[in-house]
Amino acid sequence: MSKKSISNAMSLTVSEINRLYTQTEFGTQRKNGTKISVKPFVKWVGGKGQLLPHIRGAYPKDLGVTVTKYAEPFVGGGAVFFDVLSRFELEEVYISDINAELINTYTVIRDTCDSLLDLLSEMEDAYLPQSPESRKELFYEKRDRYNYLKSHGLRGTNGYASSKSVEMAALFIFLNKTCFNGLYRVNKMGLFNVPSGSYKKPTICDERNLKNTSAVLHSVTIACCDYMLSENFVDENTFVYFDPPYRPITITSNFTSYTAAEFDDGAHIQLAEYAYRLDKKHAKILMSNSDPKNNDPLDNFFDNLYTGMHIRRVAANRMINCNGESRGEIRELLISNYSEDSYE
Ligand SMILES: C[S@@+](CC[C@H](N)C(=O)[O-])C[C@H]1O[C@@H](n2cnc3c(N)ncnc32)[C@H](O)[C@@H]1O
Repeated sequence: MSKKSISNAMSLTVSEINRLYTQTEFGTQRKNGTKISVKPFVKWVGGKGQLLPHIRGAYPKDLGVTVTKYAEPFVGGGAVFFDVLSRFELEEVYISDINAELINTYTVIRDTCDSLLDLLSEMEDAYLPQSPESRKELFYEKRDRYNYLKSHGLRGTNGYASSKSVEMAALFIFLNKTCFNGLYRVNKMGLFNVPSGSYKKPTICDERNLKNTSAVLHSVTIACCDYMLSENFVDENTFVYFDPPYRPITITSNFTSYTAAEFDDGAHIQLAEYAYRLDKKHAKILMSNSDPKNNDPLDNFFDNLYTGMHIRRVAANRMINCNGESRGEIRELLISNYSEDSYE
């Protein structure tokens, strides 16, 4: 897609955005000119695939020129991260997330991809030929094993003890590809509790994408920590994209359980203070969030928090409750500390 058509995406309808998005390939332009395709290796709640044309249009104009560093402290499935990697040559890249199992998976893909592929292809071979009933059984076996590893203190300080990290990453991808709607949800004890899904032929071991992802992650700093620990990385040459857990837009859409911790209004207020701290360092900041006005036109929560920044409302089409039954056109917020004149 040309730059022009991307920036025109700012005023597109939802169906036009969806059409553009399905035409869009993630890819990485390496320094030697060879193109490597990469796309998110898991489906992630709050994933920014649908919103990507809008977000792309809002990248800073000088990204890859004078802005040579990129930080994404709430990386999740990394739709924007992989897109940025695909478009710009950057000197330093930092990603983090508080979800230890997700970050363990990024690290294993980067450092021990071949062992991961061996395990995933074994899992795929064991799962695909089975009847629906046996697939279900296998799914719950794997889910139990995942929760066992998770609850038996096998975690190191930055993820998992190495002896279990590859198995944990394989289970993480297996469950994501075979569970209901690709959701990641945990109970109060932090145990994964999404039921089995029913896909005809899920790709559990996507060898090409995982190998390519491993290659592009090679020089990326990956951290399992709170977003605030990105502060030391960020300077005036950094573009920071924040995609925090959404503030719920309806009573029934209170899905925030990527981890057992909640991201409430107090957490959003702290995040705004942090964003203003990075603004003082002259970093370029872009944030996406749900628009509370979808539900209550008088709710100015984010307008009040980000007075002084640029706030745009863009059309989105996303799941508006956690069981995936309800989809609809809503508005999302794009907040930046630079103006539309400085957009791509
Ligand atoms: C909306 S999702 C990000 C989705 C991502 N942009 C994508 O395209 O898949 C928010 C992410 O923030 C993470 N998170 C929640 N609290 C956090 C914190 N305090 N610090 C860092 N990450 C956090 C969650 O684990 C989740 O992956």
